[in-house]
Amino acid sequence: MKDLIYFDHAATTAMHTDVLQAYVEVIGEGAGNPSSLHAQGRAAREKVSKARDALAGILNCDASELVFTGSGTESDNSALFGAAYAQKKRGKNGIVTTAIEHHAVLNACRELETQGFSLKILPVDEYGRVSVEDAKAAINEATAVVSIMAGNNETGTLQPIAEIGEWARKHKALMHVDAVQAFGYIDIDLREWPVDLLSLSAHKINGPQGVGLLYIRKGSPFQPLLYGGSQERSRRASTENVAGIVAFAKAAELASIQRDERREHAENVRSTLLKELSEQLGEQSFAVNGHPDDRLPHIVNISFVGISSASMLMNLDLAGVAVSGGSACNSGSLKPSHVLSAMNISAERVSSAVRFSFGLGNTREQAEKTAKITATISARLRNR
Ligand SMILES: Cc1ncc(COP(=O)(O)O)c(C=O)c1O
Repeated sequence: MKDLIYFDHAATTAMHTDVLQAYVEVIGEGAGNPSSLHAQGRAAREKVSKARDALAGILNCDASELVFTGSGTESDNSALFGAAYAQKKRGKNGIVTTAIEHHAVLNACRELETQGFSLKILPVDEYGRVSVEDAKAAINEATAVVSIMAGNNETGTLQPIAEIGEWARKHKALMHVDAVQAFGYIDIDLREWPVDLLSLSAHKINGPQGVGLLYIRKGSPFQPLLYGGSQERSRRASTENVAGIVAFAKAAELASIQRDERREHAENVRSTLLKELSEQLGEQSFAVNGHPDDRLPHIVNISFVGISSASMLMNLDLAGVAVSGGSACNSGSLKPSHVLSAMNISAERVSSAVRFSFGLGNTREQAEKTAKITATISARLRNR
């Protein structure tokens, strides 16, 4: 695996060595159950509490507003069902979201629609960005929840969540933001942001898989998804994943301390790849999908028109480069990406898109090598 180039950090990331150490330490000690009253239980409770405090410090919110979950998907589902059901009791029945959300949001919204909620899915422009005016026109007194992601997982495009959140607040609609992909790369300040619910996931920031976080602003109406014990202040029953939670907090601390450095590093690898592709292939042979400036630094979505996403992906894989053809959950199905399809770009561009995403361990040399490999594959497939 040594020579493999992993350019799929938006799908998942390897644990940082310090994070792994924190994780293994807790597992090795034999984490107690935080609900147990004995010393081992109290020690476990203390660990979870410290991790929650650390995350609250990073997000600038109160620790009591944070609920640990089992994934970003669970956070998204809990936010949407939890807020929608609670708001329904107040006579609100509308859900507003965008066409480019992760399926964890879109499919939860569609399920709410089958349950009788009225769903409005906002379109996006050619950069994959929702318009504030469209959002304002869709949000009214009947709106229960508005769900708009911070940064898109396929293109990296950032969304105008602050303006939309302000508008949602005026209409007493709850604003949910899926920040799973943006966390670690942008500053999230929950005292400043007009946001009531926010989803995060540890495995996108060099933390472990299977741990998520849901922020629920104090006083927000919320109905839990899981019932059982009174863990997480009765907002999410389940014995806590103590080692995962400790490791998540460690990963978040590192990401927060190193944010500027990581942004710069990702930008460097990204721009090296694009520059090298221009030199190797010529600028007319590929097109970048997504916003050129208002975007996350670690993702670039590129169409090699004339070559299907699946062919490019498989050939890169054979050459030792791991990339994605869209979001990870879709890549097995070869379905055209719903995100790119919503962007009003040509069908050829949609079907030839490849997502490169960067993170720890990547180098500019890897980007140069990948561009050369891509050019060779491209010449071979185009000349067939
Ligand atoms: C934007 C976004 N939301 C939600 C998720 C789901 O997170 P998890 O894999 O932790 O369930 C992902 C993962 O790809 C994502 O990119």
